[in-house]
Amino acid sequence: MATHGNNEVDDKGEGGTREHRHAVERRAEPGAVSPLWAGPGEGLIVPGYRRDHEKVDPPGDFPAYRGTISRHPKRPLVPIPDMLTEVTGPLLGEDRVGESDHDLTVDAAGGEAQGQKMLLHGRVLDGDGRPIRNTLVEIWQANAAGRYWHAWDNHPAPLDPHFEGVGRCMTDDQGRYRFITIRPGSYPWGNHFNAWRPAHIHFSLFGRAFTQRLVTQMYFPGDPMFDHDPIFNSVREAADRARLIANFDWEATTPEWALGYRFDIVLRGRESTPFEEQDS
Ligand SMILES: [Fe+2]
Repeated sequence: MATHGNNEVDDKGEGGTREHRHAVERRAEPGAVSPLWAGPGEGLIVPGYRRDHEKVDPPGDFPAYRGTISRHPKRPLVPIPDMLTEVTGPLLGEDRVGESDHDLTVDAAGGEAQGQKMLLHGRVLDGDGRPIRNTLVEIWQANAAGRYWHAWDNHPAPLDPHFEGVGRCMTDDQGRYRFITIRPGSYPWGNHFNAWRPAHIHFSLFGRAFTQRLVTQMYFPGDPMFDHDPIFNSVREAADRARLIANFDWEATTPEWALGYRFDIVLRGRESTPFEEQDS
């Protein structure tokens, strides 16, 4: 899975200085018997997470996508070892997600959004195929006419007063998520002459650790804009781009109501697996 996130973390807080935590944390060894506490005098065992293959993610500097020119790092990245901060957060309670937050098609007053309804679902898994349970999935998107509910969007397409275009839900025990929304329209974005984005939905996934955090975009099969979009093509390998495209799902398509799409998402797996037996 390609990611537009980064590995840089705020290393303040979490009880102590980095130097102090270096003293009590160490990387797990294969075959470690205890998930977090190795025993008296041994300190904490902290499982690491695999780094993404460098060719999967878009490069920081991709000239065809003009915005990257001014916002990519100019110096080499400094790898930071996974420590307590990176493998224990974020923690979010289910009570922060409302019962209808997954349904973008109806607003608080009961008004109904315009457009082709779609049921968007999938699973969130880690790189070892294990479901990521009880984790926050957030989406945001343009409306059916290709207009965002955002002050900076001046695309002369109509706003939908009943569609804000943001939703969130928690995954279940199988790592499944489900949204009811409308299919977004393409929109112009000014990157170059006649620049239009393929229809897409933005995703944010928290995973179980900061090092699993992923922000990405989901596309629709057969979109005619694929060949003309530098953001989509900043993911350089065709096989990697294919994993950004949802599958039309006939089974999830509901008569007289909505088309179904499935989009499974894979986050980083763990380098070492001291939790394997308890978390399988
Ligand atoms: Fe967008």
